[in-house]
Amino acid sequence: MTDRPLHLLALAGSLRRASWNRRLLQAAATLAPAGVTLEVYDALADVPLFDEDLESSSPEGPPGVLALRDAIAAADGLVIATPEYNHALPGVLKNALDWLSRDDQALADRPVAVLGASSGPWGTRLAQASLRQVLHTCGALVMPSPTLFVANAAERFDAQGALADAATRASLERFLGAFAGWVHRVAPSCAAIT
Ligand code: FNR
Repeated sequence: MTDRPLHLLALAGSLRRASWNRRLLQAAATLAPAGVTLEVYDALADVPLFDEDLESSSPEGPPGVLALRDAIAAADGLVIATPEYNHALPGVLKNALDWLSRDDQALADRPVAVLGASSGPWGTRLAQASLRQVLHTCGALVMPSPTLFVANAAERFDAQGALADAATRASLERFLGAFAGWVHRVAPSCAAIT
C-alpha cells in the first residue's frame, strides 16, 4: 500500500528575521521526503500574550490564535524548531502553546516533532526537553527519536542563510523521514482536518 501524502506545518519559536531556527525549517522544506510538503508558519508574531480576560471576551480566540489553530488543524503533523533561552523554550513559543492548550486542545493527539538550533555548543538540549514537557501536557504525540540538536549554528549556514553543512543536511533529511514514518504510525487515518 502506498503511504498517503502528508502536509506538515513547521513553527519556529523565534520572531527574529535571521533566526537559525526558521532557516533550519526553510531547509527542511527543501529536504522533506517524496510525498511530504512542509510549510513554514510565519505569523507567530500575531499571537497575542495569553490573557484569560482576552480569552473570555473573544470565545473563538483572537485572529492570530485562530489562524495558528486552523493551520495546525489543516496539517498532518507539526514540526517545531525551538531556540534555547535561559535553558528553556522561549516565552513566545510557550505563549503560543498556552493558547493552543485551551478548550479546543489543538495539539491533543497530533503528531509533533521537536528540533532546534542555537549559536552555542549544546544545540538546544534543555530547550527541547522543556518543550517536550509542555507538549506532553498538551496531549501531543511527540516523536521520541531521532533527536536533532543543531549546535554552533553560525558555522552551519552560509552567508545567504542556507543550511550548508552536509552532515546537518543529512541528519535533517533522516529526521524528516523518521517523522513522516511517525505520522503514518500514530495517525494512520488522521488525514488533515479541512
Ligand atoms: C539565548 N541563547 C542561549 N543559547 C543557549 O545555548 N542556551 C541558553 O540558555 C541561551 N539563552 C539565551 C537567552 C536569551 C534571552 C537569548 C536572546 C539568547 C542564545 C540563543 O540560542 C541564540 O540567540 C539563538 O540564535 C536564538 O535562536 P534564533 O533566533 O536564531 O532562532
